[in-house]
Amino acid sequence: MRKFSVLIAGGGSTYTPGIVMMLLENQDKFPIRTLKFYDNDPERQDIIAKACEIIVKEKAPEIEFLATTDPEAAFTDVDFVMAHIRVGKYKMRELDEKIPLQHGVVGQETCGPGGIAYGMRSISGVLELVDYMERYSPNAWMLNYSNPAAIVAEATRRLCPNSKILNICDMPVAIESRLVEVLGLQSRKDMNVRYYGLNHFGWWTDIRDNEGNDLMPQLKKYVAENGYAVEGSVDNQHVDPSWDVTYRKAKDLYALDPETLPNTYLKYYYYPDYVVEHSDKNFTRANEVMAGRETQVFTACRQIVSNQTMEGSELEVDEHATYIVDLARALAYNTYERMLLIVKNNGAIRNFDHTAMVEIPCLVGANGPEPLVMGDIPQFQKGLMEQQVSVEKLVVEAWIEHSYQKLWQAMTLSRTVPSAKVAKELMDDLIEANKEYWPELH
Ligand code: NAD
Ligand code: G6P
Ligand code: MN
Repeated sequence: MRKFSVLIAGGGSTYTPGIVMMLLENQDKFPIRTLKFYDNDPERQDIIAKACEIIVKEKAPEIEFLATTDPEAAFTDVDFVMAHIRVGKYKMRELDEKIPLQHGVVGQETCGPGGIAYGMRSISGVLELVDYMERYSPNAWMLNYSNPAAIVAEATRRLCPNSKILNICDMPVAIESRLVEVLGLQSRKDMNVRYYGLNHFGWWTDIRDNEGNDLMPQLKKYVAENGYAVEGSVDNQHVDPSWDVTYRKAKDLYALDPETLPNTYLKYYYYPDYVVEHSDKNFTRANEVMAGRETQVFTACRQIVSNQTMEGSELEVDEHATYIVDLARALAYNTYERMLLIVKNNGAIRNFDHTAMVEIPCLVGANGPEPLVMGDIPQFQKGLMEQQVSVEKLVVEAWIEHSYQKLWQAMTLSRTVPSAKVAKELMDDLIEANKEYWPELH
């Protein structure tokens, strides 16, 4: 069996150890010869890398391991780049969340003004990774889950349309893993779904088992009462109390359109007033993550290094990150696996902008994704999506043209922002906070 060389870009990410352990558990399905880490923050990456080097030595000593900040060493001789960078790190995520809240607007990592600010930072970081990959390993694929994926995907469509980059999100995977538990099925692969939307902005229209039986009636009944809250779920990534609130809130999202099942992120667009009222302006999700996941992961890694073994470590395998292996396998072995990906619409949603980057099921083979036709969508979803995709496109145009005007339009158009006045006020604060990262707007 051919063995692959994998580069994790954003080696210092809190998700890196969980993904490494997941990759090691899947060596029979996706064998690795070289595993490399790349990051532009050597101190942060070092802590994770030193621990992961020990984990690799203990679990699969035949895999060659390298962590580096040198793009040439990182990107040379690579088959897959798994990218999860966060330009500006948690320090900037905190501001993305807190600045809008100061103006009474939703403060969120990927939605609303915070997501726009993050998008303006991420574009150059991800484009740089694509450049390195094309320079040093032109045949490689980039599997990108760096956020905000919707804006990043639109930017790569505009600026490097022929690059081998696939954008993917784990939210539908996480929700589906809960639906599987609701149904008492074994695995996500026991369900076949129809889904459409933008990233962090979509709906399931049909879910069937492998025999073709309609599972929607049972699921709708459950979601109408419980949202996606499932006691003792295997979803070990979304466990903090704030995620539980989000999963429960899906009940109220469902109420708005009982024909479909909603993505949890729609709460920021359907109920922005509720979200603002229930936000702590001084302690947002970024603070919760820094005090929680970030501290736990870095403490566990330091522990592994000081013990020189992972024995007794509390690091967990990122179970549902197996979707990344499914995607890599689909490309490597031409499996034609059916997966939700963020791809150019091209008529798959017939009555929607053909150039939009949409999240829909695709068959994935060696040539990349083949999107499946989702047909015409209803007025409600179409209206919401047209507004939101315009936000995303205007952000990318603002970045390309250094246009203050277009960014103001994008902010104003976001459903989370009440007026052009508020949009301008909070945008001026975000410009000030992001001076180091955004192009200068005029
Ligand atoms: P993190 O801050 O712990 O890790 C990000 C790493 O990226 C840091 O080590 C940082 O130094 C590095 N980095 C920043 N800019 C870089 C650049 N230009 N070049 C190289 N490295 C750079 O963040 P995290 O919470 O672990 O999340 C990582 C990313 O994964 C975020 O973008 C997050 O939103 C995303 N994510 C996406 C999904 C999805 O569904 N698509 C799921 C989970 C996480
Ligand atoms: C989900 C989304 C990701 C997002 C993450 C945030 O998994 O799909 O796109 O990055 O949640 O989680 P956090 O725990 O960092 O708030
Ligand atoms: Mn996501």
